[in-house]
Amino acid sequence: MLTTKINRVAARAAFYSIRAYSSLPLSVTINLPNGTSYEQPTGLFINNEFVIPKQKKTFEVLSPSTEEEITHVYEAREEDIDAAVDAAQTAFNSDWSHGEPAHRVAVLNKLADLIEANAETLAHIESLDNGKSLICSRGDVALSAQCIRSAAGWADKVDGSVVETGSSHFNYTRREPLGVCGQIIPWNFPLLMFAWKIAPALATGNTVVLKSAESTPLSALYMATLIKEAGIPAGVVNIVSGFGKIAGEAIATHQRIKKVAFTGSTATGRHIMKAAAESNLKKVTLELGGKSPNIVFNDADVSKAVQSLVLGIFYNTGEVCCAGSRIYVQEEVYDEVLAEFKKAAENIKIGNPFENDTFMGAQVSVAQMDKILKYVEIGKNQGATLVSGGERFGDKGYFIKPTIFGDVTDDMAIVKEEIFGPVVTISKFKTVDDAVTIANNSNYGLAAGVHTTDINKAISVSNRIRAGTIWVNTYNDFHQNVPFGGYGESGFGREMGAASLDNYTQVKAVRIALTKTN
Ligand code: NAI
Ligand code: MG
Repeated sequence: MLTTKINRVAARAAFYSIRAYSSLPLSVTINLPNGTSYEQPTGLFINNEFVIPKQKKTFEVLSPSTEEEITHVYEAREEDIDAAVDAAQTAFNSDWSHGEPAHRVAVLNKLADLIEANAETLAHIESLDNGKSLICSRGDVALSAQCIRSAAGWADKVDGSVVETGSSHFNYTRREPLGVCGQIIPWNFPLLMFAWKIAPALATGNTVVLKSAESTPLSALYMATLIKEAGIPAGVVNIVSGFGKIAGEAIATHQRIKKVAFTGSTATGRHIMKAAAESNLKKVTLELGGKSPNIVFNDADVSKAVQSLVLGIFYNTGEVCCAGSRIYVQEEVYDEVLAEFKKAAENIKIGNPFENDTFMGAQVSVAQMDKILKYVEIGKNQGATLVSGGERFGDKGYFIKPTIFGDVTDDMAIVKEEIFGPVVTISKFKTVDDAVTIANNSNYGLAAGVHTTDINKAISVSNRIRAGTIWVNTYNDFHQNVPFGGYGESGFGREMGAASLDNYTQVKAVRIALTKTN
């Protein structure tokens, strides 16, 4: 296994060096499995044009469901980030930020329309590049459009207020945009995270330099074409493909970037916060990992609860920051829930992401697949019982079977650490207080699920769990108007809804001394 991996890495490195300085066209035709084809941009998107980076380097983009190369794209380095920031700064100084907000309303609505008009292409790009099933990709596309449309609705309602301090003064506040914002997104929801990031930034009049994740750069570049078509002015959104340690680092440490919004691992989040502190104290918002509890009480509707458990951990192949990866079931219904959950997990259709009824596609990369399988071994070695799955599905593509571990204890790595794959632990609890205690026994605090038919229990337990989102009798159930973000080491700042605007505005107070007139 290890040798194969090393060989694969070596082969890729050799390939990379051959192609690195070749002249890749700025657009390539990609044939999709549904028989259509589309033009995939490969350049950096700066000032509304696709450009070749200064060093002309490219990197390979892989399809995780076939392990085959899709294309190469151009790679941004420090000097390219500077060029993107220049463009974004010029755009920030223009009417985009300081003119009529109605303009931002119009172009954001147009962008949402274009996403919907290109929904199938976008969904296919996402499944090709990330490996997720079309079911998941289609959901991502729909929510992306809704999120941008919702932000469009806010764009002309970002108001300040008048503050009363008596008749000697007149005071008012304004909510002003921050300037050039850096946005660094992950690979698990490439398009959706793109939408969640740009929507509030643009609604409030900021400009953006966004870096996609190195394993999933395609949908962001396709979105660039829609951004231009929507009439968003040059320089407002700049999109770069590239690596975290080079392009990401250049964004996090940039002196002229006023804010960085990041979604990804806790380790990288910590690093970005340090980089922000040590450079220009840019504002930071972080949406990091989780180890979210999904709790089933005795009085729950069992079959509905089981559906939520399945969605909670196996949706998007478990590559979800808020995945319900710790299941806790109250004693009386434990055996019934476990039996139904196991059956449901084993009935999941896994494989080719482009088949309409596939629920679970591939993990994003060989590295992610290996990491997940390593956790399966750790779970077994630490004495947990493998109830279902626990292995690769097929030998081509990075597929992993839905995996359930029973007989777990709180100190096990598989209960404490984020696995970011289709691996879940399930255990019993006795009382409501026990459920709240174990739910809160984590440094993370992104989400939690509560399954009960008792409204009092639902509300009181929701109030006591320390997490940014509580889903009652549902899970992974997002809405563009409902804020999402973390408590504790899951990060800070909120995305979607009115709360997301706060991260992209700063309050200016104007206090005017009045002179008495007769
Ligand atoms: P990562 O956090 O390193 O990558 C996310 C993004 O950050 C990518 O765009 C990457 O290029 C960028 N990045 C990486 N290093 C950077 C740096 N020094 N400065 C600026 N940007 C940087 O996550 P990675 O390595 O892809 O995955 C590792 C683990 O992180 C996963 O196994 C998973 O557990 C977790 N993860 C969590 C996500 C979430 O949504 N909470 C999303 C992706 C990964
Ligand atoms: Mg890929």
